[in-house]
Amino acid sequence: MLTLSAQLQAVAALPASRPMTMPGAFYTSEQQFQHEAATVLRRGWHCLGRVDEIPNVGDFFTAQLLNEPLIVVRQANEEVAVLANVCRHRGMPLAEGRGSTKRFVCSYHAWAYDLDGGLLRAARMKNEGFDAKNCRLFRHNIRLWNGFIYVNLDSDAAPFGHPKLDNLLENYDSGSFKIAHVAEEVWNTNWKCLVENFMEGYHLSVVHPETLHGYTPTGLARKLVSANGFTSYAANYPTGIPKRGIGAPNLTEDESLRSTLFALFPTQIASQAASLLVSISIFPLSAGQIRVKWTLSTYGDDLDEETIAARVALWEEVNREDREKLERMQIALGSAHALSGPLAEDDYEGTIRDFQLWLAAEDRI
Ligand code: FES
Repeated sequence: MLTLSAQLQAVAALPASRPMTMPGAFYTSEQQFQHEAATVLRRGWHCLGRVDEIPNVGDFFTAQLLNEPLIVVRQANEEVAVLANVCRHRGMPLAEGRGSTKRFVCSYHAWAYDLDGGLLRAARMKNEGFDAKNCRLFRHNIRLWNGFIYVNLDSDAAPFGHPKLDNLLENYDSGSFKIAHVAEEVWNTNWKCLVENFMEGYHLSVVHPETLHGYTPTGLARKLVSANGFTSYAANYPTGIPKRGIGAPNLTEDESLRSTLFALFPTQIASQAASLLVSISIFPLSAGQIRVKWTLSTYGDDLDEETIAARVALWEEVNREDREKLERMQIALGSAHALSGPLAEDDYEGTIRDFQLWLAAEDRI
C-alpha cells in the first residue's frame, strides 16, 4: 500500500489527459493533516483579510492560523502589522475578535503593549532578569497585495510573487475595491475540499441551479492561466445577459462578462468580477474542520446599498449550498471505498490537477 505522499506523487505524474483524484484518506486522515500543517501550510502565504478592514490607527482583528494566534493591526505609522497574539509574560492571548485600541493590555497581569508590539508597562516587575526591551511581541512575515493581507509563519519562506496572476487581474484594479461585508463560520470539511470545490466549474449548474446557473453555467466554464502557486478559471456569463456593474475603465469586454476565479495556494480562493470581489480565507482546524472567513468588496460606487445587500444574500446562499455538499462528502470520504477516481476535462476540473501538482511539489519535509 503506497503512502499518501507516494500516491500524491503518482497522481501528479499522470498525463494531463488522464487526471485522477486523490483517495478519501487524503482528506480525512489526521496524520495527513498534521503532515500538511508542518509542511505546505506552515510554509505557505495565507490571506488574512483586506487592508480596509482596519482603516484607522489602532484598528485590529484577530485570527488563528494553525497553532498561531495572530493580531492584525494598523500601527501608529499607519502600516499594517501581524503580531503574535501571545503575551510575553506567561502566554495569555492579548486580544479577541476585532476592535480599535490605543494599546493591548493583557487580561491576566496587565502588561501593556503599544501597537508595534513593544512592551510599555509591566507592573511590579523588579527582578534583575526582566528587561522590557526583550519582551516585544513577535512580528510575523507579511505581504500586502491587491488590498489583501498575507502572512507566512515561516521566517525563511519563499517570497510572495505571482506575476502571471498580476497580469490576469491587472485590469480589474482589485486593490481599490472597498469592503462591504465580512463573515466567519466553521465548516465540517477538509481545507483542500473547499479549495477544489471553489475552483472547479463542473458543479456550478448542479449545486447552484437558482443562484449561479443563470449567470455562470457549467457549460461556459473555461480554464485560465496557472503557474506555481496559483490557478484560475473563467466562469463566463451567457451572451446577451445584462452586465452586473461597470467596473474599472480598462476592463476588456471578455473580462466584464465573466467572473475570474482564482486560488492562491494553499488557502485563498476568490471570485473577481467587474464590480464585485469575493474572497474566502480558509483556516484549517483539523482534517475534517475549517474556519471560513469571507469578504465581499465592491468597486467605486458601482453598486447601490440595495444591490450590495442582494449580493451578500446571494453569496450566503451559494456558500450554504457548497457547505451542505462538502459536509456530506466529508463523511463519505472516510469510507474504505473512497478510492481515486477520474477527473473531468481541463475546462471543468483542470484546476484540481493544478492544485495536485503544487501540493506534490511542496510535499517535502
Ligand atoms: Fe500577560 Fe501575565 S500573561 S501579563
